[in-house]
This record gives sequence, structure tokens and C-alpha cells, in this order.
Amino acid sequence: MRKHILVFRELPPDQLARLQALHEVTVADPRLPAQLPAFRAALATAEGLIGASYPVDDALLAAAPRLRVISSVSVGVDNYALPALAARGILLCHTPGVLDETVADTVFALLMATNRRIVELANLVRDGRWTQNIGEDLFGFDVHGKTLGLLGFGRIGQAIARRAALGFGMPVLYHARRPVDLAVQAPELRGRAQHMPLDELLARADIVVAMLPLSGETRGLMGAREFALMKAGAIFVNGGRGATVQEDALLQALDHGTLRAAGLDVFATEPLPIDSPLRRHPKVTALPHIGSATFETRHAMAELATTSLLQALAGERPAAVFDTTTS
Ligand code: DGY
Repeated sequence: MRKHILVFRELPPDQLARLQALHEVTVADPRLPAQLPAFRAALATAEGLIGASYPVDDALLAAAPRLRVISSVSVGVDNYALPALAARGILLCHTPGVLDETVADTVFALLMATNRRIVELANLVRDGRWTQNIGEDLFGFDVHGKTLGLLGFGRIGQAIARRAALGFGMPVLYHARRPVDLAVQAPELRGRAQHMPLDELLARADIVVAMLPLSGETRGLMGAREFALMKAGAIFVNGGRGATVQEDALLQALDHGTLRAAGLDVFATEPLPIDSPLRRHPKVTALPHIGSATFETRHAMAELATTSLLQALAGERPAAVFDTTTS
């Protein structure tokens, strides 16, 4: 039987067509004021939701009495009111696995750009300020051979670790809730990656990369104390979730501490507010949350999310279900 699906963020046409072939579909993006009334109206009868980057909170769920499944075109699930989903038995699907290598590429690019001052120096050329050979004041810092400290060591963290250890000869330290059995999960990193307590990692790493999901445990994890523990001249990169970092503390560490620079793909508020001091800070390389934003990967994510939604509405168990009861 045809059911009602609400698509709340643009889907590629081929994936939208898969939904339309089997169900009644409303496409309405609540971030666009003109589409908000249609979005709100569709919630009343929608059994399935698919989209990303919009808070699905208690109030929204209360307006969606028939909802059975949400398929998020993202791996992160911090936009969803997990306890309410668990209480109502609403299935939450997401997209693990298909974006790991792409996000790792992005984070490594940001790490390289931050250490080697790529954006700043490219702008120097673009602005016509390359009038003589650059001097020490504009030199960058080596990446190869430096010690990488990873906060979070899931699939994406491990993909970053492989690039660092196997491609750049970097010793890798990681901090995760529990040590990963490298022999089973990442044999190529055996002898190359070491689990350690957060404080020790911060004190030893030349480059710290945060790849943490946002949860009660990780919110604001990097604060003044943690930045102060970092090595003098260290570099901080965040490719996980912005709110795992206390941005005021990061700015303090950049302005008055010994942190050399930061590369950020994620922020506590996105898009980054126009008046955020992070936007034009000379020591910050900022990207507009592009971790997974390639043609191939965004399509693969949309395809997986669409498949999961169709499976769930057909009464099948989708492969990529997030366990809302464990967080
Ligand atoms: C995700 O899928 O959660 C990523 O942040 C998207 O880039």
C-alpha cells in the first residue's frame, strides 16, 4: 500500500523517483520559509521522513503522529531526539560506511592545508602580494613524521589513521571509549596506532584531530583545560561535530595560548554565523562542513538512505539502523 513520505532535504532525482514509484511523496524543505507550511502540513500524515541537517526535535515529532521511520542522509544522528524516537518505537536509519574514505580525505586535506598554510599562501598569490620569495614568517610546518592524536577512532578515524601512518609515516595515538582490537578491525595499523588516555594524547600529539560524534559525553569535551594540555605549537583539526569543542576556549588558545592554528570543517552553529570570530581569524582555516560533500559520496549516502526507508516501509529490517536506545 502507498504510504506518505516527507522529503525534507533535496534528494538526487533518481532516488526521489524510487520513492515516488512506490509511495506518495511531499518534498518540502523547512529551512526555506516558502516551503515551511507544506512541510508542517505533511508532518500530520507522513509515515516516513528522509533528509538531513534539520533538527527533528520533540515538538516536530509531536506534530507527526503517524511517523514510523526516519532515514537520515548522514552518519551523525545528533539532530534527532533519540529518547523520543526510542519511546515511540520510530526507526532511525543513517548512512555509516559509505562516507568514511571521503571524510578522511577532507580531514587530511584540512590537516595539510592548516600545517602548510595553503589557503593563506594561495590568497597571497591571488591578491597580488607575491612580490618576493616568501620568508620564514610564512613558512609552514611538516606533516610527515609528526605525531597524530585522534579523538575518536571509529571507521572515519581509522581511515585518517591509515593515511597518516601508511602514507605519511606518522605515529598515531588515539583516544576512544575503549581500545580497538587492531588485529581484527584494522590489521594494517598494528604497531602503528596506540590507544591512550585523553590527557596523555593531548600532551604528546603534534596534530590533534577530533572526529567525535556529538553526545552528552562529548559535548564541549575540548575546553580551556584540554587546549592548555596540548603541546606548544600544536595544531587542532575538527572534522566531527562543532559542539564537541568550546569555541571560546579554542579562540583563547589561539589568541593567548600556544596553539599554532586550527582547521575546522564543523562548528557549534552551522552555517557559521557571519559575526563569528572564527570566520576571519588569521590562524583558522574554516570549511563549510564539506566532509562527505563529493558527487560520488553524497549520491551513495542518498541511495543508502532511500533503500533503508523503502525497506523499513515494506516491513523489512534495513541494514543501517541506529540503535536509539543506547545513547
Ligand atoms: C554526516 O554524515 O554526519 C557528516 O557530518 C556529513 O558530512
